[in-house]
Amino acid sequence: MCGIIGVLGKHEVAPLLVESLKRLEYRGYDSAGIATVNNGKLDRRRAVGKLWNLSDLLVHEPLAGKSGIGHTRWATHGAATAVNAHPHRSGPVSVVHNGIIENFRDLRAELAEAGISPESETDTETVALLTRLYMERGMSPREAAVETLGRLEGAFALLWLFDGEDDLMIAARKGSPLAIGHGDGEMFVGSDAIALAPMTDRITYLEEGDYAFITRAGADIFDHAGRRANRDESRIDLGQAQVEKGGYKHFMAKEIAEQPVVLADALRHYLPKTGLNLPADLDFSGVDRITLIACGTAHYACAVAKYWFEQFAQIPVEIDVASEFRYREPPLSERSFAVFVSQSGETADTLAALRYCSERVAKTVAVVNVPTSSIAREADIALPILAGVEVGVASTKAFTAQLLVLAVMALKAGNDRGTLSPEQIAAHSDTLLTLPGLMNQALTLSEPIARLAEQLAEAQDILFLGRGPMFPLALEGALKLKEISYIHAEGYASGELKHGPIALIDRMVPVIVMAPHDRLFDKTVSNMQEVMARHGMVLLASDAKGLAVAGEGTWATLQLPEIAEPFAPILYAVPAQLLAYYTAVAKGTDVDQPRNLAKSVTVE
Ligand code: F6R
Repeated sequence: MCGIIGVLGKHEVAPLLVESLKRLEYRGYDSAGIATVNNGKLDRRRAVGKLWNLSDLLVHEPLAGKSGIGHTRWATHGAATAVNAHPHRSGPVSVVHNGIIENFRDLRAELAEAGISPESETDTETVALLTRLYMERGMSPREAAVETLGRLEGAFALLWLFDGEDDLMIAARKGSPLAIGHGDGEMFVGSDAIALAPMTDRITYLEEGDYAFITRAGADIFDHAGRRANRDESRIDLGQAQVEKGGYKHFMAKEIAEQPVVLADALRHYLPKTGLNLPADLDFSGVDRITLIACGTAHYACAVAKYWFEQFAQIPVEIDVASEFRYREPPLSERSFAVFVSQSGETADTLAALRYCSERVAKTVAVVNVPTSSIAREADIALPILAGVEVGVASTKAFTAQLLVLAVMALKAGNDRGTLSPEQIAAHSDTLLTLPGLMNQALTLSEPIARLAEQLAEAQDILFLGRGPMFPLALEGALKLKEISYIHAEGYASGELKHGPIALIDRMVPVIVMAPHDRLFDKTVSNMQEVMARHGMVLLASDAKGLAVAGEGTWATLQLPEIAEPFAPILYAVPAQLLAYYTAVAKGTDVDQPRNLAKSVTVE
C-alpha cells in the first residue's frame, strides 16, 4: 500500500515523478505528493485525493529540481488530508514511506521530550523528525538515516531526500518491497519495477533489512547488519509493464475481456500437448494435507480449489484467510504442503503466513502473478499465473488464472496419488482446454448484463447463492459487487439460506443464483424456489438445460455455455464480474479505483 518513487536525474524530475506515480496509483490514491532538491534547496507539493489534484497544483505552483521523491498514499495513520500527505518534512529532511512504523507513539514521546512536536497524525513524520534530531546532534544525513532505521519497528519501505544534497537518496526496506533502477548517469527507486519501466529495465531488488545510499554514480547497498551487500541486477520484462486501457473505458473492463487470452496462455504453459506441466518436485504422493492461504479474492480461489483437491486427490484440505492463520499459530504437519495464492505477491498477511510455514511444512508453494514478488521469491516453488499486469483494483483475470493453475495442481495431485486415472485426467484437461472458447461466449453476455445492471444499481442489498464449488464463486460475486458498486452484497451456500438469510428476502432484494446444470442443480433450484415463493427477485445464471428446467418465473436469466463438472466456477466468474462492473458503471462509481481500497495490501 502506498507507492514510492525517487529519481536522481539529468532533467527536471517533477513530470517524471508524477508520471511514475500514475503507475503506482493502484497502491493507494488518498493523496499524493513530491519533494525535490533544486540548487540544494528542498521543497515539496502535496494534494489530497487523486493524482490529478497534484498535477493541477504543480501547474500553478511548479517545483524545479533534478532530484526528487514522490508518494501516493493509502491512509493508515491519520485521515486523507494535505497535512498527512507525504513527503513528510522536518527541517533538512524529507521522507516518503510505505508500511507502518509500529513504535511511532513511543518515538513521538521521546521526540516530545526533546521539544520536537509533529505537524501531522502520521507515523511517517516520526521518521523525518528523528532523522532531523540526529542531524542536529552532528550526524551526516547517511549516519542519521541509519541511526533512525535502527530505532524503527514495523514494516516499511522508506526513501529520504535531504536539503543541500542534490546527489543523494537513501532507501531502506523492511517488510515492504523496494526496487532500485539503474540508468545512464541517473538512478531511480520505486515500490515496484513497473513504476520504473519508462526509465529503465535494469533493476536491483533490495532484500529484507537492506538499506542503500544512492547517488547518480550508483547504489551502495548494505544488509541489516550494516555489511556491504552485493545484490544482483536483473532485466525486467517491459511487456510486464504494459498498463494501457487499450480502448476500454476502464482497466477492469479490459481485464475481464482479456481472460480468454490469459487462460489460453496459462493453458499453453501448464497443459501443453504432453500433459500436465508442473515442476517435478511438486510431488503430492507423500503429502498428508494441503493448507491453502490467501486474502480476499485469492482466498475465494483457494475455497474453490478445496473442492478440486479433495475430489481429485482425496486429500484433506484446509483453507484460511492469511490474517487469521498467521496469529493462530496452527500446528502443521511436516508432510504437508502450504500453498499461498496472491496476485501481487506482496500481501503482508500472506507473506507472514508463508514465513510461518516455511520451516514447518514439506513445501511452500506460491501461486502468484508477479514473479519477482516477495512471496514468489520466498516460497520453495513459485507458479506464475501469467495473467499480465492487473491494474483494476478489483481482481478479475488474476482470479480466473489462479483458478486455472490451482485446477492443474489438483489434477497433478490426483495423478501423483493415483486417485485419478489417466483417462480422467485427460477428460478434465480437455474441459480446461475449452475454457478460452467458453469464456469468449460468456463475454457476449455483456449487453444483457449491462441492461440488468440498471436495475441492480437501484438495490440496497443483493444476495448471491451457489452450491458446491459454486458457493465460493457466490462469495466472490458478492465481494466484487460490493467493492466497486458499494451496494451491500453477501454470498451464501444455497443450502444455508433457510438457516437465517432467507429472512432478508423481499421484493426489493435481488438474488443471483449461479447454478450450472450439474448433479447439485435440483437442490439449488429448490432453494431458488424458496426465494421465489417469498417474492424474491431471482436472477438465474445457468446453461440451456438448467434454464429449460428452472428459468420460468424468475426475474431474469443469463444463459452460459455448458461446461463439464467441476470447472464451472472459472466460467461463471465472467458473468459475476460483468454484473459487478456494469452495476458500478450504472451507479457512476470509480470502477478502477474504488474508495478506501488499494491494489497491493502491504500492511496487515
Ligand atoms: C478483490 C481483491 C482483493 C485481493 C486481496 C489479495 O477484488 O482484489 O480482495 O484479492 O487483497 O491480494 P493479493 O492477491 O495481491 O494477495
